[in-house]
Amino acid sequence: MSSGTFKAIVARKTDTGQTIGLEEVDDTLLPAADVTVDVAYSTLNYKDGLALKGLGRILRTFPMAPGVDFAGTVRSSDSPDFAPGDPVVLTGWGVGENWSGGFSARARVKSEWLVKLPPALSPRQAMAIGTAGFTAMLCVMALERHGIAKGGEVLVTGAAGGVGSIAVRLLSRLGYRVVALTGRPEEEGFLTALGASEIMDRTMLQSAGKPLQSERWAGAVDTVGGTILANVLAATASEGAVAACGLAGGTDLPTTVFPFILRGVCLLGINSVDAPKARRAEAWNRLAHELTAADLDSLTQEVALEDVIGLADDILAGKVRGRTIVRI
Ligand SMILES: NC(=O)c1ccc[n+]([C@@H]2O[C@H](COP(=O)([O-])OP(=O)(O)OC[C@H]3O[C@@H](n4cnc5c(N)ncnc54)[C@H](OP(=O)(O)O)[C@@H]3O)[C@@H](O)[C@H]2O)c1
Repeated sequence: MSSGTFKAIVARKTDTGQTIGLEEVDDTLLPAADVTVDVAYSTLNYKDGLALKGLGRILRTFPMAPGVDFAGTVRSSDSPDFAPGDPVVLTGWGVGENWSGGFSARARVKSEWLVKLPPALSPRQAMAIGTAGFTAMLCVMALERHGIAKGGEVLVTGAAGGVGSIAVRLLSRLGYRVVALTGRPEEEGFLTALGASEIMDRTMLQSAGKPLQSERWAGAVDTVGGTILANVLAATASEGAVAACGLAGGTDLPTTVFPFILRGVCLLGINSVDAPKARRAEAWNRLAHELTAADLDSLTQEVALEDVIGLADDILAGKVRGRTIVRI
């Protein structure tokens, strides 16, 4: 179905980089695929910040709408798996990178990329979770698969950010003792309300430390990488595991093999973009079950589509608390 115009934030290539702005567009912006969605909400993730600023080579095709996730209702479908009106959510698959994404009132995507929303979640609540919350759940599931026992002490880095704050909420609800590492001590109240038992100042782990340190963490969710991740590995207890998903503090990993070969520590890589369909459905069902409406409200701020460009600098500077829902 092709009809009318709709608004979208559009990135266009120039000789020197890209332009980005709110436009009135039509279906020619959208790639060919079998399901068209009326987008109700998207969100601002760290990767969207990079895309909006033309950094990190996130956007690979032009013109397109950035936005790595969205939730809404099916507008038209050539797939037997989806019918008009179905509530759906999408995260990953390169959408908002090499495929027009969620900062657009309309999106057209492959049916196999879509997940039907669990009945307990509205499109707005799904985007309060978004890519960040989905990734936090994948981290938690990875630690569970590794066998990290409930009650153990688990560190979450970048705790006041999107992935970090939902990881704190999930892990504390599941019965772990959560220590929240943050560069924003002023967010102590926010993190404690999410269930953190202890707040640790980021500066404690920012300088290079010994390759093996006192064993403390049964597990960890790391969203920042770099020296902090190296220090987390060095202080992870025997047979513990660290789920690493982010690079907000750096892309390097200045570690040694000692945590791995002397303590059996495991580094678990988390990639939400290409997560297999069955794991996606499991993660979304768990998220719908473990998080309450009050949790999601406490984690989120809502902005209009036209405001999202102005927030890119803030998320890259680590100034955004929790999750930012973008109302389309
Ligand atoms: N692997 C995947 O599939 C996947 C999926 C989603 C996100 N990610 C990655 O996960 C990371 C977090 O994403 P997000 O959307 O949650 O971003 P976000 O909301 O900006 O959160 C990142 C947090 O990291 C901390 N931080 C920022 N700069 C830092 C620095 N220089 N050193 C140490 N900590 C710093 C801040 O928390 P505090 O103020 O509390 O310290 C910040 O809030 C990003 O790197 C993103 O690319 C990966």
